[in-house]
Amino acid sequence: MPVTQSEEKVIVIDFGGQYNQLVARRVRECNVYCEIYSYKTPIEQIRAMGAKGIILTGGPNSCYEEGAPSASPELFNLGVPVLGLCYGAQLMAHVLGGKVERASAREYGKTEVFVDTSSPLFTGITDRRGTDPTAESGGGHEVSTICWMSHFDYISKLAPGFEAVAHTDNCPVAAAQDLSRDLYAIQFHPEVLHTMEGSRMLHNFVRNICGCAGTWRMDSFVEKTIEEVRAKVGSGKVLLALSGGVDSSVLAALLAKAVGKQLTCVFVDHGLMRKNEGDEVEAVFGEKGSFDVNFIRVNAGERYFARLAGVEEPERKRKIIGEEFIRVFEEEARKIGAVDFLAQGTIYPDVVESGLGGESAVIKSHHNVGGLPDYVDFKEIIEPLKYLFKDEVRKAGLELGLPDYLVYRQPFPGPGLGIRVIGEVTPDRVRIVQDADYIYREEIAKAGLEKLPDQYFVALTNTRSVGVMGDERTYDYAVVLRAVDTVDFMTAEASNLPYEVLQKVMSRIINEVRGVNRVFYDLTSKPPGTVEME
Ligand code: XMP
Repeated sequence: MPVTQSEEKVIVIDFGGQYNQLVARRVRECNVYCEIYSYKTPIEQIRAMGAKGIILTGGPNSCYEEGAPSASPELFNLGVPVLGLCYGAQLMAHVLGGKVERASAREYGKTEVFVDTSSPLFTGITDRRGTDPTAESGGGHEVSTICWMSHFDYISKLAPGFEAVAHTDNCPVAAAQDLSRDLYAIQFHPEVLHTMEGSRMLHNFVRNICGCAGTWRMDSFVEKTIEEVRAKVGSGKVLLALSGGVDSSVLAALLAKAVGKQLTCVFVDHGLMRKNEGDEVEAVFGEKGSFDVNFIRVNAGERYFARLAGVEEPERKRKIIGEEFIRVFEEEARKIGAVDFLAQGTIYPDVVESGLGGESAVIKSHHNVGGLPDYVDFKEIIEPLKYLFKDEVRKAGLELGLPDYLVYRQPFPGPGLGIRVIGEVTPDRVRIVQDADYIYREEIAKAGLEKLPDQYFVALTNTRSVGVMGDERTYDYAVVLRAVDTVDFMTAEASNLPYEVLQKVMSRIINEVRGVNRVFYDLTSKPPGTVEME
């Protein structure tokens, strides 16, 4: 189901490529709404979606192998433009009567591609060498640009009706088109930032070739969604577990604008938040905040600490923290009584099946809630952010007037500081992490680093060592500074933070945080490490 029936959209058909979500995000950056579907989606269903264009993603297979993901020839006869990317391009050639073969060498990485700017796909692409293509090639339209390649197979023979419109030194068909049927195939990845003019190529496809007007904007999404939620909820009651993370905060703000006091937000403060975060959430959604909702803050720290006493094993801690959340939330929900709707902060990456295999959308349980809460008396779940990518959720948050510190909050694990204290979790150990982490964040902000790490925090080791402070011997804890650069949190590199910043943080932590006498910087990438310590 599209966000609204009237929204023009493009369909991205997923063949298991690692960049499939990126394709959809780039299309949305062209202000065109799009949705991702598995290649297994029946053709009738795709036809019924009334999309203005279709994009086939890359994938790990070889299209000529038995059992490889395929596409019905009808897909190319729906009367809407189709763009195949990498595997999608090869599949288009294969299905329509061309030939795809394995090359003797893989073409990988940034590659010089010569594109024909008379193709509507490549309109407006400029020559990276700054030369005038028409002069150089005697009236031709070929320009040089850099694109991201990642393929072994290549199109060795074009399908009937197609002409090549780009090539590299090694690959005769880096792009092809059949203008009479509006079919386009690109061997490289325009969705990847390394492709210099990739955004323009996708823009050319969705806006010019598919003719999308480009009406997908966050302000109109927010307005429309508020109207839709209002219409659906009527005079009903809505319950939301507010964690203070980006998704649930944006959802709370949106629901607040839509149904005001019909919304009750339950914020379970487990005492394992970062310094001041509980109060920040309350400042925005509580009585003195700018949203007129029922806000219940449950200060459950003591309960959590009681259950965590003596527990050292990371997964056991996670389990206890998850279970305790459910108990506390359940108790509050009982006090509130029956509600009509339970709101969940599910976002699009949670919905989209990842890679191959899924037949239909799989909805992951919300990380911070831990499964569908069947212990709450509600009639229906609403998930108004279900079609948004994270960056779009943030834009929606800004539209809704949320402060930057909530909108740009770093990812924070559901079990909170519970998994940033190695070993037993006690109030004093949590206090150490909170204070040290606060200093770390403050210094990183002060340093105005050009590129902020994607996630950075302090963790507490369970190692104590000897030090000397003034004239006194100390026997205190070591904390670890962690900072990582990552795209998807599946892999990560330790950030290269300036030494002076690290030194300043070290000196402030040792001087200001009682109980710490050593500071380490974690250089480990993921793999072999993980982002968190536990
Ligand atoms: P790891 O440590 O697995 O972290 O490399 C990857 C990302 O996931 C976050 N993370 C969690 N989030 N519950 C969550 O909601 C958890 O138990 C959990 N463990 C790790 C982590 O902060 C990072 O962003």
